Amino acid sequence: MRKIVIAGNWKMYKTQTESLEFLQGFMHSLEETPDSREIVLCPPFTDLGIISKSLHGSRVQLGAQNVHWEDYGAYTGEISGPMLTEIGVRYVIVGHSERRQYFGETDETVNKRLKAAQSYHLTPILCVGESKQQRDTGETEALIVTQLKKGLIGVDQHNLIIAYEPIWAIGTGDTCETKEANRVIGLIRSQLTNPDVPIQYGGSVKPDNIDEIMAQPEIDGVLVGGASLQPDSFARIVNYQ
Ligand code: 13P
Repeated sequence: MRKIVIAGNWKMYKTQTESLEFLQGFMHSLEETPDSREIVLCPPFTDLGIISKSLHGSRVQLGAQNVHWEDYGAYTGEISGPMLTEIGVRYVIVGHSERRQYFGETDETVNKRLKAAQSYHLTPILCVGESKQQRDTGETEALIVTQLKKGLIGVDQHNLIIAYEPIWAIGTGDTCETKEANRVIGLIRSQLTNPDVPIQYGGSVKPDNIDEIMAQPEIDGVLVGGASLQPDSFARIVNYQ
């Protein structure tokens, strides 16, 4: 059975005060949420400690937005696995397109971060997906196969989540057609050695399209940006029909 994972990626949004305000508005919405759904919040690093304390004993799991491959060292601006696990982090996003696009992340660094995360028993969420130009020139499939091949060298597929996030659908309101997202996710699954890896869709997931997205047979969850920032909209997403 594949696990359903609904994760919010807060990117560079929310101070500690704002993150606690979010929890106050959000946590009660989980009373009716089926236990089978894993709920994950990935706030900025500065919020992790305070949210971890606040979530203690709740069903919501904590995720980080990146992890370095070394345990410690002279890597200004980076955060390591032991730093995350000490404060109760269980998941970590790796290779988000914004990291690849703006911060020089490559399939090689993504691969090192994935293996480091697993060595600390963190579950990495590997993001893959094509740009608009790559889609228009018919490169989607080849690009994704390459991202998976290079990214997953030596990675344990029994402690892994993959998120298909077409770059052109991120933050644009231009959601990938659900049948197309389902098709690409099927392609991703065909490249894996473990067919039970949960594969999420991400890119303009909203309260008004979540039901249709989750009705697709290949889609095991969502990675949500903008719509995870408001308690009401994220509540509607985790409580999809
Ligand atoms: P949006 O939901 O804002 O399009 O962002 C998606 C995303 O990048 C999640 O990681």
